[in-house]
Formats: sequence, structure tokens, C-alpha cells
Amino acid sequence: MYATDYPRTFPANFMWGGASAASQIEGAWNIEGKGLSGAECIVGGGQHNATQDNVTLKELKAAMADQATNRYPKRHGNDFYHHYRTDIKLMAEMGFKAYRLSIAWSRIFPHGDDQVPNEQGLRFYDRVLAELRHYGIEPVVTLFHYDTPAALTVKYNGWADRRIVAAAKRYTQTVLSRYADQVKYWLTFNEINTGTTGFHATGAIDKDLTPAEQLQLRYQALHHQFVAGAIATKQLRELNPQAKMGCMVGRDQTYPASPNPADVLLAQKEDQLNLFYPDVQVRGEYPEYMNRYFADHHIHIKMAAGDQELLKKYHADYLSFSYYTSRVSNSRPLASDQKITVNMARGFNNPYLTGTPWGWLIDPRGLRVTLNEFWDRYRVPLFIVENGLGAVDQLTTNGQVHDDYRIAYLRDHLVQAKEAIKDGVDLLGYLMWSPIDLVSFSTSEMTKRYGLVYVDLDDKGQGSYRRIRKDSFYWYQNVIQTNGEKLEEEQ
Ligand code: BG6
Repeated sequence: MYATDYPRTFPANFMWGGASAASQIEGAWNIEGKGLSGAECIVGGGQHNATQDNVTLKELKAAMADQATNRYPKRHGNDFYHHYRTDIKLMAEMGFKAYRLSIAWSRIFPHGDDQVPNEQGLRFYDRVLAELRHYGIEPVVTLFHYDTPAALTVKYNGWADRRIVAAAKRYTQTVLSRYADQVKYWLTFNEINTGTTGFHATGAIDKDLTPAEQLQLRYQALHHQFVAGAIATKQLRELNPQAKMGCMVGRDQTYPASPNPADVLLAQKEDQLNLFYPDVQVRGEYPEYMNRYFADHHIHIKMAAGDQELLKKYHADYLSFSYYTSRVSNSRPLASDQKITVNMARGFNNPYLTGTPWGWLIDPRGLRVTLNEFWDRYRVPLFIVENGLGAVDQLTTNGQVHDDYRIAYLRDHLVQAKEAIKDGVDLLGYLMWSPIDLVSFSTSEMTKRYGLVYVDLDDKGQGSYRRIRKDSFYWYQNVIQTNGEKLEEEQ
């Protein structure tokens, strides 16, 4: 007997809100005991992945010795460190139910593996969490968001060396002990599936290695992250069994270029290389299909005794993900101008979709496909913890930003999220990226803006840091107030 009723809209307790990351907002990179993160050593300039995937140890050391702020935009972010009260008030004004932030490891342990945590750094997060509590906004906290302490890259080559797991364990024990009672929703690694693309995700430098050696190093580093994530999950369960630890992946929905079985098979195989991560973190074990991939690519993952049991026992309670775009798998060689490389999507163009000014294909329906596939495969609650549009915004002379393109982007994705809820998907919430303009991760620039609130700041770090509500601010406020009731009518 099947039920004939189904959810028609967002649940009453749906977590509406936004998301951000420490290295893109906080600033205050060298005060009150903070150490440098790798992210804060990436130079600006707007070239996609120009530096983050190709950094050398020499470049990193030079950046660490360089006291400049303007050359490294993640050193100033949007100065959330000094504006968090204003920013959280703006989020409250929009009616946010939840806000995702990350804790900077290097603010708590400046070298990553110090014996004693930096109390001043912890006090900053005490203040931020107190402010969120004041407005009844649920914090969602990422433990690792692309910001491995730079000192650990010098010492261990980031996550490539197993010894980093002990340092990470001390860091997670420290923050979880302090906040496990205040924070119900945690995430381990941001977009862990970008770990094979380079320095930003694993903090490991491999520029001088052959492609084969790079793959070996990156998958080994990822294994260490899986282990550190499981350790953090264990710690959280011991500290507060009611709290939830999620994993987080960047999701580019994958399509075959045609019904040609060769394309379909290729799409499946390429997609497995992304599903691998939630397969490990939600199902708790390395999937069989990776054995063949590892053998074909001469990759050997060194595991310590007990690793497999740890992964099995301390798997994620929920699956969160970012969704910006989709990708196409094509078995036929195409001209290089038909290929696209955006975010993690390294594939081919899709003639049915248009792109953002940065070439990211806009595909709201792909979000519904993703939600259905993830729910069918994992049967754990899902959480959209990033979705948004990077665009150039114009501030009018009377201080307004008419970002109807951002409203359209967010609305179209929300319509599809609602459809997925009607399909039966268990969706915890929707956190758009990002409430307040911030430094883009991949291009380290302010020009590519994501916010509902404009920040008066340019790529060179010049500006007043003044916050200005965009049109999308008022639109999202209304969406939250009406619990997403009227979205379809706007189309
Ligand atoms: C996600 C990251 O990949 O995309 C964020 O988790 C990032 O840190 C966001 O900011 C948007 O990407 P970008 O490179 O345009 O900032």
C-alpha cells in the first residue's frame, strides 16, 4: 500500500541561510596569535587556479616571509573579523535560520601542531557563536575549509604525511570540546573531492612530481583526511551524541554527451571518481571500483592498522554538498575550445546550458538530479551548503545593486530543490554562497561577487568595507519569510 500524499513544499524547520569560509572572509591574518594558512599565501590576480594548484615550496616560503596584505587577498577577506556583528545582524534581518562558517585551524594552532591552543583565537569564535545564538541562527561549522596551516606544509608537506593526522586530532579535539554543546551541525572537510586537484585542498606541494607520482601523493593525502574526519566524528559522538557530523563534497552533476554507450560508460566511470568520497565517508568503506582504478594507475594507499574499522564505525551522519554547475563526459576527442575547465568540472561544453561570466554552466535541473541520486544512493539526510552566482555587480550612484541575475539563479535552483523535496528527498536546508561579498577562492579576487550584501572593496584591497544591501537581499528575505512558497510564481 503506497501513501498518496507527499510533501508539497519546504518543511517548516528547513534551514534557510548562507555559507562562507574563514580564509575568504575573516582577514586579521596576523593578529592575536594567528598563524598563516596556505590559502593566505595565494596571490591575487584573477587567473583561475593560476597559483593554487601549482605552488612550489620556494614560492610558499617567499609568501610566508612576505608581510604584504594586498598581494594576498585572503589576508584581508571582507574583514569579517571586525565586522561580524554587522554581518550577522544583516543575516538576522534576512531571517536566516542557519549560517555556515569555518574555523581557521591556524587561528587556533598557528603552526598547526602547537602544544597549546591560542586562546585569543578561540575567543573570537566564542564571540561569533554568541552573536549567532543571540539571533537564534543555527551555526553549521566546517572544521577544514581549504586552509591547512602553511607551517604544516613546510614541515609535513600538508596532508601527504601521516603525522599531520595527530596534529589535526589535537585541533579537532580542542574545538569540538569547546563547541560541541553549542554547535549541532558540523562538517569535516570542505569539498573533499577536490583533493586530487592540488595544493588548496590538501596543502601538499607536488609541482616537481610526475603526474603519476602526483596522483599517488594526492590519494594518500586524501586517505589521511578520511582518517582525520573519522577521528573527528568519534570525538564529536563522545562529546555530544546529539550533534551531527556531516561530510561535504563539491557536486558537478555528470551527463553523458550522447546516448552512445561509450559516453554513458565514460560518464559513469568519471562520476565514480567523485562518488568515491561520499562512498567512503557515508558508507564507511573504499568502494570496489576504486581497486581497479588504483591498480590501473599504480596507486597504493598505505593504511594503518585500524583505519578501515575507524572509517566503518565513524561514518558521516549526513551528506552536504556544494552545487554550482554540471559537466559532460564525452568519449570522442573534441577540439580544445569545446572543453571547459571550471571549478572542479573538467569536461566538455553543454549546448543546452548557458554559463556565468566565469564560464560555469548554469544548470538548476541538475540540482534536482543530484538530490535524487544522492538520496537514492545514500539514504542519509542531504544538506545544500553552497549554491550561488559569482558575477560582476555594479553599484549605482545612489548606492544600490540591481542583481536580478543573481535572484534568477538562486530562485531557479530553489525551485528545483523544492521539486526534489516533492520527489521524497530528505533535505535539511539550503545555504546560499555567500551572504556577504567575499574573496573568491579560485581566483582570489573581489570582482567575482557572490553576496546578497555588497562590500565596498576592490581587488587591490582598497575600499571602505561598507556593507550595502543588494536587491537580492530583499528577495531572499521574502523567500525565507514565506518559506519558499511563491518561488514558482516568480518564474
Ligand atoms: C566552492 C568553495 O568550491 O566554491 C568555496 O567551497 C568557493 O570556497 C566557492 O568560494 C565558489 O568558488 P570561487 O572560486 O568562485 O570562489
